[in-house]
Amino acid sequence: MKSRFEVPQGKIPASGGRTFLQIGEQSIALFNVENQLYAINDSCPHQGASLFSGKLDGCMIQCCAHGLRFNLADGCMVNSKLLKVATYEVEQAGEQVCIVLDSGTKHE
Ligand code: FES
Repeated sequence: MKSRFEVPQGKIPASGGRTFLQIGEQSIALFNVENQLYAINDSCPHQGASLFSGKLDGCMIQCCAHGLRFNLADGCMVNSKLLKVATYEVEQAGEQVCIVLDSGTKHE
């Protein structure tokens, strides 16, 4: 059975926005890119810096620490398969938004 976290209404980012969620031991960054929601693990798979405050260019988040870029949709690092950030499925039903916690992909 999947484990879901319902995102509080005040934490659902508007288009172009982002929010940080602490769910148990998991730190998750939730992004809204042109009304599409993406949830990723906040920890950069390179050396663990927070990705939440990274620079966003379309669906690409750039880590502030060393500049690596990751695709929010699949977690893959740009131009490399060496590193991948965990991504989480986001379910939307009307106003309700849930993050499927055990859909997180493992770091590779
Ligand atoms: S910790 Fe993110 S690029 Fe190094």
